Amino acid sequence: YKKGVKYLVDNSKNMKMVPLEFVLPIPEGERPSMAIDGSIPVIDMSGLNGPVVQQRLSTIHAISSACAEWGFFRLEFPQVTNHGIKESLMDEMVQVVEEFFNLPLEEKMKYGSDDVMDPVRYGTSLTTTRKHALHWRDFLRHYGGLTPHTYHLWPANPPAYRDVAKEYLKEVWQLAVIIFGAISEGLGLDPNYIESSLGDEGTQLVISNYYPACPEPNKTLGLAPHSDHGGLTIVMDNGIHGLQIKHNQTWYSVPSIPGTFVVNLGDFLEVLSNGKYKSIEHRAIVNTEAARISIAVGHGPKMDAIVQPASPLIKEKSESKYRPIIYKDYIRAQQSTIKRGKSALDEIM
Ligand code: SIN
Ligand code: FE2
Repeated sequence: YKKGVKYLVDNSKNMKMVPLEFVLPIPEGERPSMAIDGSIPVIDMSGLNGPVVQQRLSTIHAISSACAEWGFFRLEFPQVTNHGIKESLMDEMVQVVEEFFNLPLEEKMKYGSDDVMDPVRYGTSLTTTRKHALHWRDFLRHYGGLTPHTYHLWPANPPAYRDVAKEYLKEVWQLAVIIFGAISEGLGLDPNYIESSLGDEGTQLVISNYYPACPEPNKTLGLAPHSDHGGLTIVMDNGIHGLQIKHNQTWYSVPSIPGTFVVNLGDFLEVLSNGKYKSIEHRAIVNTEAARISIAVGHGPKMDAIVQPASPLIKEKSESKYRPIIYKDYIRAQQSTIKRGKSALDEIM
């Protein structure tokens, strides 16, 4: 299955069953189809940078409650005053990613890698150390940043990929910084606190996922339950729904609405807030009808930053609920456990 799930599906005539390797032991009550809809927090960003103080404060309050109660929110209006990601740019990004996945396998395999630290990686469903199931997805991931050092390593095909991705990642980074500011204020910290804690240059990582249509979506997953290691992950997709989040032991389906984003809180922010905010456990499901593409952009600290609670939030060391760890080491630990919920975070609690 090294060739990927898309290749497998494209080259099997009329696949009616999921191959055994992909069948996951999903607990009875947690089948993908059993998730419920609704009540996920929605944030309207338009008041955040506006002139009305009350609107600003209520937006910060709404973000803060969403972070404390869910670790997740939907951004229905990502067009913040003085800053907006054009919907046309979002569409173009989905387009170039789709074109990438539609390339012949040999072209994609130029970027194939199994090392989680490689700057650019095309890969397929997670293999695991245990003799364990694979997952129903292929992916492309690479670093971004405001001045992306790895730009020349990004896919050269489709020809528009690099420029569209560069522009998109720059805009998303700016959006992340605005949200980091609101979260800092919500925690009672200096508005620049989180941005500064990323270090001179934070880490931006884009993961584009391709989940082919699947004959038996209740038996497998696109991506197993996990939380993200960074601060904020800003996600959009191609209009096919598939993201689910776990809240109070219940799985919720996140609606997929063109022109909007969803925002995941990652482990770095859970630790920085000393547990006041929770990273969100999430998974991707698949469906029989259509391939889903999602583009998740994570924003975390620089690789050698220390992940630890913000010092203004703890009066004494003993109040810290987490053991300090270097971000890079945390990523390695998290990627080597087979994405089991939030198990990497449990290790440093
Ligand atoms: C992920 O990066 O966790 C996947 C998100 C998604 O497919 O919606
Ligand atoms: Fe994720």
